[in-house]
Amino acid sequence: MPEETRRRLLGPEHVLPATDGEDEIAARLLAPDDTLEDEIYGASLRPRTFDEYVGQRKVVDNLRIAIDAAKGRGEVLEHVLFYGPPGLGKTTLASLIARELNANFRPTSGPTLEKPKDLVGILTSLEAGDVLFIDETHRLGRVVEEFLYPAMEDFQIDFIVDRGAYAKTIKLPLKRFTLIGATTRAGMLSAPLRERFGIVHHLDYYDVADLERIVLRSAGVLNVPIDAEGAHTIAARSRGTPRIANRLLRRVRDYAEVRASGRITRDVADLALLREGVDELGLDNLDRAYLRTVVENYGGGPVGIAAIAATLTEDAETLEDVVEPYLLKHGFVVRTAQGRKATPAAYAHLGAVSKAAAVQERLL
Ligand SMILES: Nc1ncnc2c1ncn2[C@@H]1O[C@H](COP(=O)(O)OP(=O)(O)O)[C@@H](O)[C@H]1O
Ligand SMILES: [Mg+2]
Repeated sequence: MPEETRRRLLGPEHVLPATDGEDEIAARLLAPDDTLEDEIYGASLRPRTFDEYVGQRKVVDNLRIAIDAAKGRGEVLEHVLFYGPPGLGKTTLASLIARELNANFRPTSGPTLEKPKDLVGILTSLEAGDVLFIDETHRLGRVVEEFLYPAMEDFQIDFIVDRGAYAKTIKLPLKRFTLIGATTRAGMLSAPLRERFGIVHHLDYYDVADLERIVLRSAGVLNVPIDAEGAHTIAARSRGTPRIANRLLRRVRDYAEVRASGRITRDVADLALLREGVDELGLDNLDRAYLRTVVENYGGGPVGIAAIAATLTEDAETLEDVVEPYLLKHGFVVRTAQGRKATPAAYAHLGAVSKAAAVQERLL
């Protein structure tokens, strides 16, 4: 973007900070996809009952009814599909359903099931009523997916043996089971697969009040002293995402222990998150780098996602799954037929952030 346009839009005092380096983006604090750290420390924070599962009331209520009804009839629960951005509790819900059904939870994922053999092995080992969880359902290969159709519909798999005129189909019966699929991309599921799920739920971002409850609960589990304002500060910057709330809580806890009394207050949370590059709306370095790319490199857009991804040396799918949903929801970008466009809110936010950066410089 020409310097003059920028000054006109942002005011002379708002010089946009330079785009962050790749390393910083890679080490991204807010990335809501699983990291090893989450796996290790997140396990203890995962709700173990529906009552501990905060928010998403409508989804949880509907699931409870479906579970009770299936139990009452002595039937297996219909297949369930969850879709929505990463970190919102899809895997957690799937495991809670299995628990509620007193069934085994058998987790796997689309990319892991490479060959029909992999899937057939799992399907034939299922016990009656088991919950088979397939994460990243949209990444199932076509051949594997086709094996799933009769398994989901008739609880059997079809093998074709011999060739040509002698070819015949052998049907192998399976125990009745419940398939739970999770995906960030409902649109990428093939129609025949999507239609085989009897129960479909979209998980949406959490509101701040729900995230506060999650932060307080997690702080209790981790045994970290925290006050209401401290919890609010973390919740408000978690991009509507429980996984991020828990991750920010751990970072703030570190800071509180090393640089403060150990107690998480608003000031402690504020400073800790500022240091981590998380701004007051919860946008992090990659979010701002995305917005800056659209604004500075492409004059505010419209620009295609592939071009943005190339400029940021990021994966387009990551940007679409992880970065854009939140920016779109909060009106920083709009999608047009010609590509992505930055909104006035994006310009205003980048301006405010660079102002805050100057303040931060004096604080830290
Ligand atoms: N509704 C919730 N209440 C409390 N914690 C939650 C909730 N949803 C998610 N979490 C927390 O966020 C983490 C990530 O959730 P997960 O189920 O792995 O998300 P997804 O599968 O949608 O990516 C969980 O380990 C859990 O600690
Ligand atoms: Mg998951």
